[in-house]
This record gives sequence, C-alpha cells and structure tokens, in this order.
Amino acid sequence: MGKSDKILVIGSSGQIGTELVQNLRDIYGIDNVVASDVKVTEQAKEGPFEVIDVMNAAGLLEIVKRHNINQVYLLAALLSATAEKNPKFGWDLNMQGLFNVLDLAKEKIIRKIYWPSSIAVFGPNTPSINTPQFTIMEPSTVYGISKQAGERWCEYYFNKYGVDVRSLRYPGLIGWKSAPGGGTTDYAVHIFHEALKSGSYECFLSENTTLPMMYMPDAIKATIGIMQADSQKVKIRSSYNLSGFSFSPNEIALEIKKHIPNFSISYKPDSRQQIADSWPKSIDSSEAGKHWGWKAEYDLANMTIDMIKNLKK
Ligand code: SER
Repeated sequence: MGKSDKILVIGSSGQIGTELVQNLRDIYGIDNVVASDVKVTEQAKEGPFEVIDVMNAAGLLEIVKRHNINQVYLLAALLSATAEKNPKFGWDLNMQGLFNVLDLAKEKIIRKIYWPSSIAVFGPNTPSINTPQFTIMEPSTVYGISKQAGERWCEYYFNKYGVDVRSLRYPGLIGWKSAPGGGTTDYAVHIFHEALKSGSYECFLSENTTLPMMYMPDAIKATIGIMQADSQKVKIRSSYNLSGFSFSPNEIALEIKKHIPNFSISYKPDSRQQIADSWPKSIDSSEAGKHWGWKAEYDLANMTIDMIKNLKK
C-alpha cells in the first residue's frame, strides 16, 4: 500500500462494490476511493462519487484525470442470467468496458487494474469436481464467453504492454449488505431474506444443484489480497481460481433449518437451471494459495450463522 493510492471503483453500487468500497475506504481513506456507477445512488452520500458509463472512454478518462486515479476496480458487468436476456448488450458492456480500462493502463494513465472473472468461464465439458486452474473451458453462456475472452485479453495486455491487471474467478457470492444483481447463484442470498421474512422459499434451481460459493468477507479479502500482493507473486494474469465452499439448495436449506426450524423450501427450476448445470460443482484454488497466500475462512455453517445474525438486525 502506498500513500499515493487513488482508487476508482466502477460499478460501485452493485453486490460486490457496495462492500468493497467500504473496505477500501477503511484502508486507504474515504477521499482516496472514488465510487462510481451509471446513476447516482445512496453511495453518493458516503464519499466521492461520480456517474460513469464505462462504455464512454472519453468520459472515463476525464474522471480518471480529474481525480488523479491510478488504480481501477472494474465491477460493471451484466451477470449470467441478465446477459442471457440481452446477449449483444452483455457482450458489448463486458468487453468494451474492459478494453476502456485496459487501455488506460496501456497508456500509463493508471498503473493497476482489478477485473473480476467467474466460474462461468467453465462449461459442460469442464471436469466439474475440484475444477483445476488450467483445464477445458468452453463456456456456454454469453457471460461466460465474455469473461473467458476478457481473461485472454488481460493476459495479452500483461504480456504485450506490461499492464498490471489482476483477476479472480469468483464463485457465487453471498452477503447481507447488498443485493445480488442478476446471476444464477442469486438464490443463495434470496433464501436468507425469505427465510426470515416469510419462512419459506421457492428456489429457481433444483434441490441437488451443487455450486461453488463464497461468503462476501472472504471475497473482499481475496480481492484486496491479490491487489496488495507483490507483483511477482501474481503469476497468473488471466484469472485465478478461487474457492470457498460448495452446497446445493437442499444443503443450505437444511443449514438454515438449524436456526429457523419451521423454514421450508420448494423447487421450481427455470432457465437458470441450465446455466447452473454447465458450471463446476467445486473449484481447486491451490495456485492462489501457493502464489499469494489465499485461504478462505468461512464455510456453510459459520456463513449461515453470520448471515442470519446480521439480517435479523
Ligand atoms: N454469481 C455469478 C452469476 O451467477 C457468477 O459469476 O452470474
């Protein structure tokens, strides 16, 4: 961490951004972290905030220069379920947004980039248990295709232009401070809200659909961890596998029942089932562990306790 860190978080009002901005401000100071989204949100009351459309390269450059930004966290994207409804826009936003930020670093206007990838880079032909870092990918969703292509471009910009870009393949993320934004793993957040509100939940995935997941404090720790790691330790410049724990809707329902005994779950799989079926069940993140010390703290049991405790407040 240097005194000169000036950070811009793009897409800051989404599920990850909401928590990431708070954590970055605790570390770097409120004024050194500029939040930004396509429209003004409540976040604008908490510190520096800009309206940015990441598709607008000139507008982005103006704000980066005005705030002397040297690091960008690019979180603006369409997630898996939303991108399937609007494939061309999903592709355009996810790719053009990335290019606009990568080019700022290529031109040496900024010096470090964080860009999230996802388990969606994997597909139906990928080994689904303990999916290795390097394996068959062949994603079948627009979101996954855009993330895989993005990973290739990140590595390319690192190799050709020395761009210091760092990335993680997030699993489904679960947190209580913010709502998920159109993914296939969103059920794992909704289930807690419904359990506390109505005591029942209708799940859009089938009961034994196991997916890799992570509690938000671990995701934030990993994100800031890879960004603060010494550059030589970040040996993979496409994106790192990242793992927390895995569960199915049935397993999380049983865990919730330990705390809310009358909770009931029913199942009505929709189009998101097909997406979930194409993704891994568990992830091997040993490279992240070896290279820059990644280790998850939360499992299903302590995440469930923490979610319920905080949502009850
Ligand atoms: N949580 C994301 C999604 O479901 C995965 O990256 O789209």
